[in-house]
Amino acid sequence: MRKALIIAVMAIAAVSCGNNASKTTRIPEDPRVEQLLKKMTLEEKVGQTVLFTSDWTVTGPSMRSGYLEDIKAGRCGSLLNAYTADFTREVQRIAVEETRLGIPILFGYDVIHGFRTIFPINLGMSCSWDIDAIEESARIAAEEAAAAGLQWTYSPMCDISVEPRWGRISEGSGEDPYLGSLIAAAMTRGYQGDDLSKDNTILACVKHFAAYGAPQAGRDYNTVDMSERWFREFYLPPYKAAIDAGALSVMASFNELDGVPAHASKHLMTDILKGEWGFEGFVVSDYTGINEMIMHGYAENEEHAAELSMNAGLDMDMMSAAYMNHMTGLVKSGKVSEKTLDEAVRRILNIKAALGLLDDPYKYCDPEREKARTLTAENKAFARKLAAESMVLLKNNGILPLKKGEKVAVLGPMANTRDDLLGSWRAAGEVEAVPAGIEDAIKEVTPVTSSSNKVVLVLGEPWGWTGEAASRTSINLPKEQTELLKALKKQGKQVAVVLLNGRPLDLSAESELADAILEAWYPGTMGAYAVADVLFGDYNPSGKLSVTFPRSLGQVPIYHYAKNTGRPYIHPDAKYESRYLDCPNEPLYAFGHGLSYTTFEYSDIVIGDARSESGMTIKADGTLTVRTTVTNTGSVEGTETVQLYIRDLVGSVTRPVRQLKGFERVTLKPGESKEVTFTIDKEMLSFYRQDMTWGPEPGDFKVFIGGASDNTKEASFRYEI
Ligand code: BGC
Repeated sequence: MRKALIIAVMAIAAVSCGNNASKTTRIPEDPRVEQLLKKMTLEEKVGQTVLFTSDWTVTGPSMRSGYLEDIKAGRCGSLLNAYTADFTREVQRIAVEETRLGIPILFGYDVIHGFRTIFPINLGMSCSWDIDAIEESARIAAEEAAAAGLQWTYSPMCDISVEPRWGRISEGSGEDPYLGSLIAAAMTRGYQGDDLSKDNTILACVKHFAAYGAPQAGRDYNTVDMSERWFREFYLPPYKAAIDAGALSVMASFNELDGVPAHASKHLMTDILKGEWGFEGFVVSDYTGINEMIMHGYAENEEHAAELSMNAGLDMDMMSAAYMNHMTGLVKSGKVSEKTLDEAVRRILNIKAALGLLDDPYKYCDPEREKARTLTAENKAFARKLAAESMVLLKNNGILPLKKGEKVAVLGPMANTRDDLLGSWRAAGEVEAVPAGIEDAIKEVTPVTSSSNKVVLVLGEPWGWTGEAASRTSINLPKEQTELLKALKKQGKQVAVVLLNGRPLDLSAESELADAILEAWYPGTMGAYAVADVLFGDYNPSGKLSVTFPRSLGQVPIYHYAKNTGRPYIHPDAKYESRYLDCPNEPLYAFGHGLSYTTFEYSDIVIGDARSESGMTIKADGTLTVRTTVTNTGSVEGTETVQLYIRDLVGSVTRPVRQLKGFERVTLKPGESKEVTFTIDKEMLSFYRQDMTWGPEPGDFKVFIGGASDNTKEASFRYEI
């Protein structure tokens, strides 16, 4: 019997953003894989590198009829967009019983923020800063998906983005590489658990490799170009964190980088991923990404595209049919070596073995388990809690929380939508039976007549306005929505705006008008209830923005990780400083911002401690503690996310004004205080120096601690070698 595959996920104490040695999962070699490889014809090998969609769901520009014929003929080794225990069992039976070698199919699906129980969209979840809860959401998603015949999700999406026009910013974890890395690793652990062969874990797929979140002008699929340094420092860390956490598949991105489409980038797939990081899983293309290289102007034709991709390290072709149509010929003509093809097939078969499919191809196809494990009361309760945690109270003049029994009118174009609550990539998700969305989850609803009425005004973007192929040139709410808010204010109403949307919006007008703004994102299956929980104070909001909200699209890209420039804007009337004539430099709501129904006070930072002789200096491999005492100064219990930022004042290359380097969520009763301690080490001070080596440089640093990137206490220290 095959040795149980234990994924040796090494405990990662701190997520490194650097290029230091990888802790990549090693896949034990399964002797059956080599035996299979020896038996396989060239055509059968190629078949294992082919992934087609079923006709159940449309997630790309082309469909393929006859996929069952392809499977029967050994032309297709994996299938996406098909699920349920019954259906996958039937497809699996065809692969196992009707093909010569009986190699099982790998079933994949976009389980992005839940499968049947849908959690908030990923951008929303990232605003919880609750890494354990995000891991748990992935665990639940895996359990539900695995029970429905799936073994593979196309998640975590690790694309850092500072581009609110880009609709897919909703699918990621915001703008920060450190927070994004923690979340990427947590989701990977959640999906894969500690043993891929269990019937409640699934294979993670790190996507979109790489830098897909930086399309020019925010238009989906558009060109990406940046320095290697910025790429490695800002965009690459979350992908690596997921690989270090054990992720065993990776999806190439649609964009080009430095003139080379990612689907043919040897630099990305072979040099960085499989080389530097020692990645042992397989790389899959994105949907028709291989033959799109013809339109990119990089490949002459489909055959050329297949040759370029395979030789660059891309193991599996999703939907291009380029490998199916041309790989046999390419190997025969010597343009692709059989060794290269074998290596791709070996990687894919190793994963099938690791998932336990070679032991029992039907292990994920159990209708009883499917019924018992999906949309359970516990899963829904958890989704409700995580949805509440993800919401960010952007503004509040005291109108919230609503009082129990208080009559409120619930209005607005998004008040009675059910569909929008799920956002994009809703998998097989459902909305808990709220007949009319948020309106119905708030019990004390009254018509908006009396002049004393408070109004909950639910505004936002229909869900299709974010997600794939959903870029916008405006990040404002639709005009009529702002007009409605204006009209209500004219009537003297107190208005709490609830937002359902999937990108940072320009809320300049609304923030002037509204008494409160609650950013609820697309909150998922239990979202309507979670909104009510927050509005009535059953859950005291604790979310913090993982992405900056600008005052105007003209400020974009605007993010906390920015550099100082040689002419920072310091003097109010200065002309020759880095500023706008018609808009402040500061965002409307900064990264890390988020209010609570209580208030928190921070003590000054205490730096160094009695146990350390170094005082205000870190020496070489030493550490330095920085501490603050946080006090709940309000009248209700609340959770605060205490954030640590560092600035390196002088470097061999310029450094950002603020880099997030740690955070801790603390829950405090009214009047309660807690000391929060962070330990700074040299890894936290490291960066790609001028010669592209990774490490710290001696000199002066600043440390900032607070409840938002623009609301911190600060202190200084030195690093010496
Ligand atoms: C998307 C991927 C997704 C794939 C499969 C593509 O269009 O870019 O994120 O996983 O389709 O549905």
